[in-house]
Amino acid sequence: MNEIKIECVLQAFEDLEHLSKDIKGLMNQAIEAREKAYAPYSDFKVGAALLLDNGEVITGSNQENASYPSGLCAERTAIYYAGAKFPESKVLKMAITAASNKVKTIVPIPPCGACRQAIAEYEVKQKQAIEIYFMGESGKVIKSNSLENLLPLVFNKSLL
Ligand code: THU
Repeated sequence: MNEIKIECVLQAFEDLEHLSKDIKGLMNQAIEAREKAYAPYSDFKVGAALLLDNGEVITGSNQENASYPSGLCAERTAIYYAGAKFPESKVLKMAITAASNKVKTIVPIPPCGACRQAIAEYEVKQKQAIEIYFMGESGKVIKSNSLENLLPLVFNKSLL
């Protein structure tokens, strides 16, 4: 038996003010998108902003539904729209933020497993890492240099 150790290296920034100007701008666009979330059931609003290699910024927010599983997370709303509108473009960076109306989210909120799987598809498709930044409503911002870093042992087309 061999033990396999998998390492995940992240960078932590004290808050929004410690980010570079362009990432702070992208995160502010995610915050703006978050305010537009439709989350009457969870009261948990999430916003995502994607910077594409053509300079476009695509934003998305979670969209809930009375039939709960029919709703969609912010990250997938944004990345599917980017894929639909600019199929030839690469996603360079992604900023994510979440805020609850019930409790103050000061810990960084990472993308859920389903969103990681969806983002992984585009990272494989474009053969280039996507930088991911995530935070709560305020407080620390975590950076991952790629999606793969957040989803070890990813299932992708190379396994089909
Ligand atoms: N949500 C997201 O938008 N992104 C995630 O990565 C995690 C969860 C949304 C889905 C649902 O509308 C609400 O947050 C509570 O789970």
